[in-house]
Amino acid sequence: MQKITAQAHSNIALVKYWGKKDAGLRLPRNSSVAIALDEAYTLTTVEFDEKYLEDDVELIGEGFEEDEKDKVKKHLDRVRAMAGITTKAKVVSQNNFPKSAGMASSASGFAALSMAAVESAGLKLSEREMSVLARNGSGSASRSIPGEVSVWYTAETDEESYAERISFPDNWKVKVLLVMAEDTSAKKISTTDGMAMAPTSPYFVHAVKEAELNIERLKEAMSLGDWSAFGKVIEDECYRLHTICMTQTPNILYWRGVTIEVFQGLYRLREQGLEAFFTVDAGPHVHIITKDEDVAKVKAELAKINGIKKVIECGVGPSAHLVDNHLF
Ligand code: DP6
Repeated sequence: MQKITAQAHSNIALVKYWGKKDAGLRLPRNSSVAIALDEAYTLTTVEFDEKYLEDDVELIGEGFEEDEKDKVKKHLDRVRAMAGITTKAKVVSQNNFPKSAGMASSASGFAALSMAAVESAGLKLSEREMSVLARNGSGSASRSIPGEVSVWYTAETDEESYAERISFPDNWKVKVLLVMAEDTSAKKISTTDGMAMAPTSPYFVHAVKEAELNIERLKEAMSLGDWSAFGKVIEDECYRLHTICMTQTPNILYWRGVTIEVFQGLYRLREQGLEAFFTVDAGPHVHIITKDEDVAKVKAELAKINGIKKVIECGVGPSAHLVDNHLF
C-alpha cells in the first residue's frame, strides 16, 4: 500500500454548528456554512503497511494528547472497515498554525487524515463520500473536504450529511483576518463536550430553527451580492452561537475583553461606512470577514486595541487535495 500525503484547510463557520442529533454519527442539529482559510492547513501522511505492528500516530511540534491519538486510531478503523483490511498504519501530521491560534485543527486534521488514509488504503471515494467520512472524525471537518465556501447539510442518515461548495460572488475579494487574543485561558471545554450540553439552553430549539433560516438568508445575500445583508447574518450567527453557550448548563463564556473590543472597533468603522464583520468560534479569538480593499483600514483600527497577540490574514482556501511532500 502506498504512502500518501494530503493537505486540508481549516475553516471558519459563518452559520454555526453547535449541537448534534446523533453524537455517535456526528449528525448536526442544523446545517452550517463555512469559509476555508488558505493560510491555515494540516498536512498528513498515512501509510498502511504490514511492517507496522500497531498504529503509530504523531503530530509534529505540539504532539497529540492520548485522547487525540485514540480518535485518530478510531478514524483509521473506519477506513479499514471500508477497505476490508486489518493492516496497521503510520500517521504523521503537521499544522502550519499553532493550536493556540484558535483555529479548528480538528477540521483540517480529520479532513487531511481522511483523504490520505482513504488513498493509502486503495479506496476510491467521491468528494461527497470523503466529506461524510471526515464528518465522522469531527463535524466541521466535513466542510474542509470541499473547502472554499461550503454548506454542510443536516440529515437523518450518515450518507446524507455531507458538505459541498456553494457559489460565492466572483467580485467579492474576501479576506479573513484572524485576530488572536493574547488571553487564551477561555477554552477549557472541548467543542465536542461543550456542544453536548447545548440542548440545556432554554433558547436552543428556537436557535436551531434560526440557523436554518440564516442559511437561506446568507444564500440570498450571496446571490444578490448584498454585502451588508451577508454581514448581518454572520454577526447574528456569532451572537446566536454564543447565546446558546452562555445560557447552557454549565454556562460557557468563550469571550474575553479583547473579543468585545474588536467588535466595537468594527462598529466604529461601520459608522464611517466601512463594512467588515466579526465572527467567533469556541474561543476568544475573532475572525473578521472583510473585503480585500478594506484590509489596511481594518488593521489600522485593530492597532488601537490592546490585548491582540497577532493578526493573520487569510484568503479563501482550496479543497482538500493530495501533495507530494511526505512527512516521513
Ligand atoms: C464552534 O467540529 O470541533 O467551531 O464534531 O464534536 O468534533 P465535533 O465538533 P467541532 O465543532 C466546531 C464548532 C464551532 C462551530 C462550527 O465550526 O460550525
